[in-house]
Amino acid sequence: MKHYTSIHDIDNIHAWIEEAKAIKANPLKNIDLGKNKTIGLLFFNSSLRTRLSTQKAALNLGMNPIVMNVSGDAWGIEFGDGTIMNGVTAEHIKEAAAVVSQYCDIIAVRAFPTLTDKAKDESEYVLRSFVKYASVPIVNMESATEHPLQGFTDAITISEYSKKTKPKVVLSWAPHVKALPHAVANSFTQAMQKMEVDLVITNPEGYDLNPDITGNTPIIHNQEEAFKDADFIYVKNWSSYSDYGKILNTDPNWMITKEKIGNAKFMHCLPVRRNLIVEDAVLDSDSSIVIQQANNRTYAAQLVLKKILETKE
Ligand code: CP
Repeated sequence: MKHYTSIHDIDNIHAWIEEAKAIKANPLKNIDLGKNKTIGLLFFNSSLRTRLSTQKAALNLGMNPIVMNVSGDAWGIEFGDGTIMNGVTAEHIKEAAAVVSQYCDIIAVRAFPTLTDKAKDESEYVLRSFVKYASVPIVNMESATEHPLQGFTDAITISEYSKKTKPKVVLSWAPHVKALPHAVANSFTQAMQKMEVDLVITNPEGYDLNPDITGNTPIIHNQEEAFKDADFIYVKNWSSYSDYGKILNTDPNWMITKEKIGNAKFMHCLPVRRNLIVEDAVLDSDSSIVIQQANNRTYAAQLVLKKILETKE
């Protein structure tokens, strides 16, 4: 595998899940694979889990991770072609990506969307520019429209906790005070579409995700109806896609409660705002598997890095 930028880079999700579980059982088995190799983790936005779990994954493979908060610490990067750089940007991605490629064997990038310019966000100009101008493999640590390390993690977690051959999985919108990206919901949907699950999405009117991603997956605007007989309830806020980046609804009735969860397992990618997205009684109960889910971030990342390292050899 050259790059990991999308759930679509997973050729066989069932095989990948089994391989990730084997890594989890013996995380240091391939400690020599990444010896004398360097991974650069470039963050244009904040992170706790992605930053630490990807470093941990690299260390488990014997790699040397170097981490940079690009926004703030690095020179402002210009992505436009032919731009007269007399503004705030001081360095072009053509030079930046080429230079970092000389220091690193793999580059991982996090760059969130603007949520104001749909076309620009959907062009994935930051991630695509790294793929174009770097000479080493690129890993997506959450881009404008996708979070494939999270999506693969979620598939591993559902596989671990599922007691049925075809569990019912519900992706539910929940309220939030800020306009948030669609990346987690998009990659979760794409990952579940590759799994043997009965997937349903529930969100208020005006919050349907990109139809190119949801495809034939049922979208139900009544949360109570969607939650019926659910085995897993995966919760995430996202801003409107049709009225791009806008907050149209903050109805607290969409918050996840103990009563709504029933016998289902509660999942969230974290960070999560308590008593806004989900009430304490859910997060503090055995219904919640968010901590176990976050633990799987390491093994998802480790399998991705392992596959790239094996391809490079
Ligand atoms: N879920 C996730 O990507 O967490 P961070 O934003 O903390 O990395």
